Amino acid sequence: MSRPDRSAGAAVAVPGGAAGSAKRLLIVWHSRTGAARQMAEAAARGATRAAEELEEAANFAATLRRAADAMPDDVLASDGYLFCAPENLASLSGEMKEFFDRCYYPVLDRIPGRAYALAISAGSDGEGAARQAARICTGWRLREAAPPVIVRLDAQTPQAILAPKTVPAAELARCEELGGLLAGLLLLQG
Ligand SMILES: Cc1cc2nc3c(=O)[nH]c(=O)nc-3n(C[C@H](O)[C@H](O)[C@H](O)COP(=O)(O)O)c2cc1C
Repeated sequence: MSRPDRSAGAAVAVPGGAAGSAKRLLIVWHSRTGAARQMAEAAARGATRAAEELEEAANFAATLRRAADAMPDDVLASDGYLFCAPENLASLSGEMKEFFDRCYYPVLDRIPGRAYALAISAGSDGEGAARQAARICTGWRLREAAPPVIVRLDAQTPQAILAPKTVPAAELARCEELGGLLAGLLLLQG
């Protein structure tokens, strides 16, 4: 078994303005072999860059949070969300599902209408995980900001599946765009 990928640590916050006034994007991620972590980091970069381009960097904060560390208070304190995880056995990876299981009822009916998007790493499919996450987000009555970004890395043998992943630049660019779009929505539409 490969070891869980922990290199992005607990949380990376890009500071914004005064507490309470900045728009907050929460990026919750889980990754076993690195792909979804790289995707989440790319989305955070794209979001931060978009805020800078809008000259709103002081009013924006993107926080990367490992799924294992993300709590209901993190969800409540954010204005929008990116959920980024691998597809495992045709559904969300267990650690990402555990995040949703842990947070679902504590935030239910308290975040309706907030924007969200999904980024899924996959060997060859990813649709099952995307559908499952979208269904959960529908239960939360979140608003889908964009179609899911699914990155397929053609990992289909046990060796390829367990190997560390390097996400191609073009795929990371799609994740950066997604982060930028979420930041723009939060800053321009409130
Ligand atoms: C237990 C397990 C089950 C998997 N099941 C699927 C699957 O159902 N569909 C798919 O497209 N990829 C599947 N994969 C491949 C992963 O989604 C792929 O390797 C992805 O890049 C992992 O993301 P990560 O690097 O962020 O951990 C599976 C991988 C593992 C370890």
